[in-house]
Amino acid sequence: MDQESPIEALDAIARSVDEAFAAARDDNDLRQVTARFTGRDGSLTKIMKRIPELPGPERKPFGQRVNEVKGLVERAQSNAAERLRSEARARELSRPALDITLPGRRPRIGRIHPCMRTMHEIIDVFTSLGFDVAEGPEVELAENNFDRLGFPPDHPAMDMHDSFFLPSRRPGDRVLLRTHTSTVQVREMLSHPPPVQAIMPGAVFRRDDDATHSPMFFQLEGLMVDEGITLSNLRGALEAFLTRLFGAGVKTRFRASYFPFVEPGAEMDVECLICGGRDPHCRVCKGTGWLEILGCGMVHPVVFESVGYDPERYRGFAFGMGIDRLTMLRYGINDIRHLFENDVRFLGSL
Ligand code: PHE
Repeated sequence: MDQESPIEALDAIARSVDEAFAAARDDNDLRQVTARFTGRDGSLTKIMKRIPELPGPERKPFGQRVNEVKGLVERAQSNAAERLRSEARARELSRPALDITLPGRRPRIGRIHPCMRTMHEIIDVFTSLGFDVAEGPEVELAENNFDRLGFPPDHPAMDMHDSFFLPSRRPGDRVLLRTHTSTVQVREMLSHPPPVQAIMPGAVFRRDDDATHSPMFFQLEGLMVDEGITLSNLRGALEAFLTRLFGAGVKTRFRASYFPFVEPGAEMDVECLICGGRDPHCRVCKGTGWLEILGCGMVHPVVFESVGYDPERYRGFAFGMGIDRLTMLRYGINDIRHLFENDVRFLGSL
């Protein structure tokens, strides 16, 4: 069979243009179809190479015809592009509208840990009574944690403060995680002459772990030193504080107790708000009906001597309370470990 002449081939190309572009479904199709005509291997590009097959006078009109067909391709291409754009717009408009009545998903908002909330409230009470807030390091020298507070070496009172000792960098230093924030009382007195009126909030550490003891817990201690301070100043400050925290009706008791750094020493108990004193097996008050919440007393002259205060001239009171214990009481939590497991479902419910 004779080969199709260049003129017949060009006519066939021209006839195929509209149908080829009508088949394009997207921009990618459109690029491929265009390339099939005018790309490097496109039919219109290749047909130019066949011009020498034509007799001389036919060559120029053939070239013009090729250019016309190229124009045809260009128009078909831009029509197809326009058609694709309007099809896309129609699809967009027929899609279901955004439903703005659907309930949104609220991001969960964090909140302050109940222990910190209690601590801030207690700080507010005491600062309104004129106390400053003092802080100190959690890693301490045994001098500040025990010796300057009048703990004699190897005294059994240190058993109550079963301690975490740490390796020390300087030979001879006895370094530990502080067992109470009384260390900050020592630091305050070493660095300021009397009068002193401050509270010391912070984390403390003891080797204890059960329903009412955690190896890390929070304390807040207080110290007031001046001429003429008496036990009734102490009771007044503590009663003002407890009324503010628990309300006027709460039952408390004051009983004699021993701490090496106070004389006389006392402990203050609050009625067990978990069982109300009615459950002999209550895990929190151990069936006693009372919860010890703080230790207190008049600062021992030995302590004044060890920090360079004149024990003849000055008197002072000190107290120390467990923030976690108070938090358990306020929220009726029966196991201190709940406070440190950091289960947001539990903490968020308080
Ligand atoms: N530091 C004592 C403790 O942690 C509490 C306390 C402070 C007792 C001040 C009396 C006076 O056990």
